[in-house]
Amino acid sequence: MLKVVKVRPWRVLFAQKIPRNTRNIHTPSPQTITVLGETYPTDDYTNLPPTIAALLARRLHVTPPHPLNTIRKLIAGHFEGFKCYDNLPAVVTPELNFDSLGFPPDHPGRERGQSYYINRGVMLRTHTSAHEVDIYRETPKSGGWLCTADVYRRDEIDRSHYPAFHQTEGARLVNLVDMDKLRAENDELRRRIADSKIIMKDCLDFDPVTNPLQSSHLPETVLPMAQNLKLRITTLFLSIFPPSSDPLHVRWTPDIFPWTSPSFQLEVRYRDAWLELLGCGIVLDATIARTGHNPVDERSWAFGMGLERIAMPLFGVPDIRLFWSQDERFWKQFKDGQLSTFQEFSKYPLSERDVAFWLPLGEVGGWEENDLWDIIREVGGDLVEDVKLIDDFWHEGNGRRSLAVRITFRSMERSVERAEVNKVTDDIKAALTARLAVEIR
Ligand code: DAH
Repeated sequence: MLKVVKVRPWRVLFAQKIPRNTRNIHTPSPQTITVLGETYPTDDYTNLPPTIAALLARRLHVTPPHPLNTIRKLIAGHFEGFKCYDNLPAVVTPELNFDSLGFPPDHPGRERGQSYYINRGVMLRTHTSAHEVDIYRETPKSGGWLCTADVYRRDEIDRSHYPAFHQTEGARLVNLVDMDKLRAENDELRRRIADSKIIMKDCLDFDPVTNPLQSSHLPETVLPMAQNLKLRITTLFLSIFPPSSDPLHVRWTPDIFPWTSPSFQLEVRYRDAWLELLGCGIVLDATIARTGHNPVDERSWAFGMGLERIAMPLFGVPDIRLFWSQDERFWKQFKDGQLSTFQEFSKYPLSERDVAFWLPLGEVGGWEENDLWDIIREVGGDLVEDVKLIDDFWHEGNGRRSLAVRITFRSMERSVERAEVNKVTDDIKAALTARLAVEIR
């Protein structure tokens, strides 16, 4: 049994000691990779595992009666008149995903450790904002639009994180001559909220130092826009969360995004915890100018929200892996366009296995924490419920560093035999040895 020395958070741990990833962890390295029927050359940036590439064909958000499809439709119903884009391909360029929105060249989201790259020139979108500039280009003046899609981020493994999830992006353009109409609309939305059970804690619409207005923007035009953004979203939650006996608590906080200012985040209180639901803000003039619209007479707000974050409380789905289940006991519980409470099939027992290993002598990495998660997920598939770092120390005698992880195995759909868990654990150890050159202890 392992002696636990000290548990430290991954981020701090690896940020300090492990240099940036330069190695392809998916061996053997093929010359080409095929994603959704399209073949691409691979290079030193390729890090898309076949298990993740396979998810692109699932299209859960447009497949009834999947709960994510129902949520997409509920949102579209709330933003009446907004044009909907639900079929944009997940393979994009880094220019679209990052540069078009003004992400700085050294933004951590661009790193191979954070995002899935097919090669240096093509990647899986990490957010629906990747389509903002293109969609604005085809949006008429004073128009609104929504875009719902699957997005991909390399992440840790637990019951609320999965490397693929869904977002809805929304935006509205308003002409400056229509500000009076917008103020009247805001008054009406405020009345609806006052008559409801929703309790909204607002934050300042801007802060001159930490969340400023853009230099060319006047408070009298931006404040009604910021209020409209917050009120349209707050009333969205009013319309999709069923009227229960408990009031719904939401709170706004300031945030930072490269293409908006001021920027905000929304959280909803659910089962004694604040859930982060979305980011949003007033789009920068520089971004608007890139889209063919004229920042001198038009303002826009935009938001991006995580659909699983809404679907988990709304449908009572306890584990994010369930959304990807192909089991008919999952699918049969839902009706297109309707809310219902998910009944767990049964709680299958979990098994835990610890895997401890020495890093190569004199080397502290060449890989990143997310390589570890991806290899474990690739080999263990959806049997892996959770992975935690439980041990990390330097051995003075041999000068090497040791890590240990505890892997929790549990299927959502069946009970898993001991022998199968042992076999998968052995396969994980073999893959870690072959691809990261670690030595299992
Ligand atoms: N794309 C952001 C994310 O994934 C969310 C977001 C923030 C979308 C601000 C927006 C926005 O449109 O204006 O975290």
